[in-house]
Amino acid sequence: MRKPNKEELIVRKIKDGTVIDHIPAGHALYVLKILGITGREGFRVAIVMNVDSKKLGKKDIVKIEGMELKKEDVDKIALIAPTATINIIKDYLVVSKSKVQVPNRIRGLLTCINPRCITNQPREPVIPEFRTMSLNPLILRCEYCGCTMGHDEIIRQLVKE
Ligand code: CTP
Ligand code: ZN
Repeated sequence: MRKPNKEELIVRKIKDGTVIDHIPAGHALYVLKILGITGREGFRVAIVMNVDSKKLGKKDIVKIEGMELKKEDVDKIALIAPTATINIIKDYLVVSKSKVQVPNRIRGLLTCINPRCITNQPREPVIPEFRTMSLNPLILRCEYCGCTMGHDEIIRQLVKE
């Protein structure tokens, strides 16, 4: 019989659902938070944190049985975990594997950190818009005032509320 890899020793394979793999180490709980998963929905959820990864050194994995992600969810995961891979599992097999993609432009989802930015003026109905300057580390730049925002601030804004 095939020897299970280290991750399989911690949490077994799932039958149907979604595996979000290659999450930067320590970020799995943020991914659950933006998906709105509290554990009270009834889905079976496995969280693996700080396991060895060839590509990332260490990584986190989230496995959700019986749930499929919406496009909007995948876009938000990209901003929290730009290295993540989304695996769709059907009857124990990986039927689809895709890397999340940080969009070149992000409209509406985040607010500019500059209080004097036009997007932060109550009387100006301007929708904030950012351009992706760098992926690793993730840096976004406001299209209106040029202020830049790093990964920690992006996560802070996405996981609050
Ligand atoms: N997985 C799972 N349940 C299954 C099938 C796969 O939980 N029935 C998990 C695996 O444990 C792994 C991820 O889904 O974390 C992707 O599976 P697979 O493509 O088989 O693994 P790798 O080839 O290692 O993936 P990658 O090339 O993306 O690193
Ligand atoms: Zn701005």
